[in-house]
Amino acid sequence: MLVNLKEITQIAEQGGFAIGAFNAPNLETLMAVISSAEELNCPVILQHAQVHNALIPIETIAPIMLDLGKKASVPICVHLDHGTDYEECMKALRLGFTSIMFDASGAPYEENVLKTKEVVKAAHSMGVSVEGELGHIFSFDAGSGEGGKIINDYQSASDSYTDPDTAKDFVERTSVDALAIAFGTAHGIYKMKPVLDLNRIALIKEKTNIPLVMHGGSGVSDDEFRRAIKNGIRKINYYTYMAVDGANAVIRFLDKKTDKDNIQYHDIAITAQAAIKEHVLKAMKVFCMK
Ligand code: 13P
Ligand code: ZN
Repeated sequence: MLVNLKEITQIAEQGGFAIGAFNAPNLETLMAVISSAEELNCPVILQHAQVHNALIPIETIAPIMLDLGKKASVPICVHLDHGTDYEECMKALRLGFTSIMFDASGAPYEENVLKTKEVVKAAHSMGVSVEGELGHIFSFDAGSGEGGKIINDYQSASDSYTDPDTAKDFVERTSVDALAIAFGTAHGIYKMKPVLDLNRIALIKEKTNIPLVMHGGSGVSDDEFRRAIKNGIRKINYYTYMAVDGANAVIRFLDKKTDKDNIQYHDIAITAQAAIKEHVLKAMKVFCMK
């Protein structure tokens, strides 16, 4: 059944766990995520990132996400990830998304507040939730495609973390339903072990009292997930490492094939889907500890 972000994070608040929010830019990933959620009886967020329009247009994937979401036996939120302009957010609303992330974290603070408020006004009038972002998620790799502030080490990036008092002001002025915060996570592959300021999550939670969102979830250890959840993370954005696992399974499958003239595409898709599902099941067991 379809729910919005406010409703799905409320389930997580009540249960003291986090909802996995998986990017799914193709049917194989969508089916892997939904079947994992149904198998474990966990609510889940299916998300389409604006940047993934290059892989599949939002107009193509949205009706499939919504149809699978409606038919699922668990609560499902269909969410636009890192919407970076007003027009894309409005398009997601028209297509029937139940939640959108508006990401103006790269803009000056006042601009982020004003632009986020505009999106919230439109979305809330349609019963759709909004996630805002404050601070800068990192990235060790300019080519990851997911965005983020490019860093080479953690020492040089200390001014990018979300400030708890500013977060309180941001939440009060924008009325967002959830807030993505920066505490050391990075989009894409971690070139070094993540150094996370987990205490900051608790400080921000205390000031804002809304569901907090971790981006750059894949690559973080199970122990850090558990501590982040304990401190107030209720949504975990997750993609890169499950996509890498899917690709590695395909490489192994192709390497093993002796009859190279008879490799068929559907076998590649199915192989990737099975590996992604295995990965998602493992992650979900950590996030959705009910
Ligand atoms: P990863 O791809 O690094 O797991 O990050 C996902 C994300 O934050 C999507 O918004
Ligand atoms: Zn992200």
